Amino acid sequence: MPNHDIPTRDKPEETVLDIDFVRGQFPGLAHGWTFFDNAGGSQILKRAVERINTFLYDKNVQIGGSYAVSQAAAAALYEARTSAMHLVNASRPEEIVFGSSTTALLQNLARAMTSQLTVGDEIVVTIADHESNIGPWDRLRDAGIIIKFWPLNRDTFALDLADLEPLMSDRTKLVCITHVSNILGSINPVREIADFVHERGARICVDAVAYAPHRAVDVQGLDVDYYVFSLYKTYGPHYALMYGKYVHLLELDTLYHYFYGKDKVPGKLEPGNPNYELAYSTCGIVDYLCELGEKSGETGSIRDKIVAAYGAIATQENALVDRLLGYLRGRNDCRIIGQSSNRDGNRIPTISFVFDGRDSAEICKAMDAHRIAIRFGDFHSRRLAQYLDLTENNGMVRVSMVHYNTVEEIDRMTIALDNILGSTGRTETTAA
Ligand SMILES: Cc1ncc(COP(=O)(O)O)c(C=O)c1O
Repeated sequence: MPNHDIPTRDKPEETVLDIDFVRGQFPGLAHGWTFFDNAGGSQILKRAVERINTFLYDKNVQIGGSYAVSQAAAAALYEARTSAMHLVNASRPEEIVFGSSTTALLQNLARAMTSQLTVGDEIVVTIADHESNIGPWDRLRDAGIIIKFWPLNRDTFALDLADLEPLMSDRTKLVCITHVSNILGSINPVREIADFVHERGARICVDAVAYAPHRAVDVQGLDVDYYVFSLYKTYGPHYALMYGKYVHLLELDTLYHYFYGKDKVPGKLEPGNPNYELAYSTCGIVDYLCELGEKSGETGSIRDKIVAAYGAIATQENALVDRLLGYLRGRNDCRIIGQSSNRDGNRIPTISFVFDGRDSAEICKAMDAHRIAIRFGDFHSRRLAQYLDLTENNGMVRVSMVHYNTVEEIDRMTIALDNILGSTGRTETTAA
């Protein structure tokens, strides 16, 4: 029998999100659509757009000049790096590298490691990752680097250290993992994995694209070496950032002109300059999180406010996860791809599933008419979809929410789903 209970976590969260305030910050939410494709891309904050405009209207010159506007542009870029430093809890702004996308940053990182790697060195990647954190490493096979795949436990959907152990050798240089799979939605124990990897003399590179919109990032607490995510899924524009430990960034090869020496961090890793205005939008994201933190009663540092904001975000998101998982567990024709409950609060609101014998594309397209945006496919985690045998029937349906979504929106979607699928698949009403 499926378990229909709405799970409770050990510690009930206390911080409640001011949802009217939150939704008012995202102009894109005013047009009547329910956006449940946030793992594809979130709505952008008004204040992130305002930062972009401010840069373009008031400071749109090249940095490095002696004149006042150029100095102001350089200050804005530095402010952007400083905001990003607070956002991820880096130890200095120079540990932030901006880039056009997570994919591009990881490709750049692989390229910038060329002189560190020699034939026979080994890199471990996981089968659970988005292709962005597999492909750039896999291509290093051409240079004689050995690539090993860390498999996923098919029963628990976990990456077990016991499966990593035999893959590690004294030639292992790097282990590349995802903080959260954009299909499975549960948070991997990054600190534990980082310790394991470091004890064996290797470094760790984390794709945090599916994590950063949902929980406070703490690169120092996690002790990661490289950590990358996309701003367009974290309430900003189409842009991305990579954190790297300063000492590691110093070691990387330059991707810029030859006269950008090894010490030119992070500039040597941003060939042709970062996009100033998009980088500057980071300040708007952090301003928003600080205000959210203040609304939760936090009066301390920027970092304290960011952490408090994500506490409130987690509360809202847990309610969303419980609601949707409760509905899906209540259908006898549905298979949830990932953990089917959130008892430990370890699940972010990215939820993938399939319905028996149904085409996932048809379900999503039928949902379009309800102005509810969801997505089907493998979400560029193709190797995981193949590994889990989920490539038939146009892959999976994915509902990916963030804190601006509401329980009411989920209920509207599940009513629409009942209409599309027929309510015969429903074994029990699971309203909270
Ligand atoms: C988990 C994950 N990693 C990486 C990426 C790629 O990000 P970008 O589009 O910035 O290259 C995505 C995009 O969907 C993703 O979901």
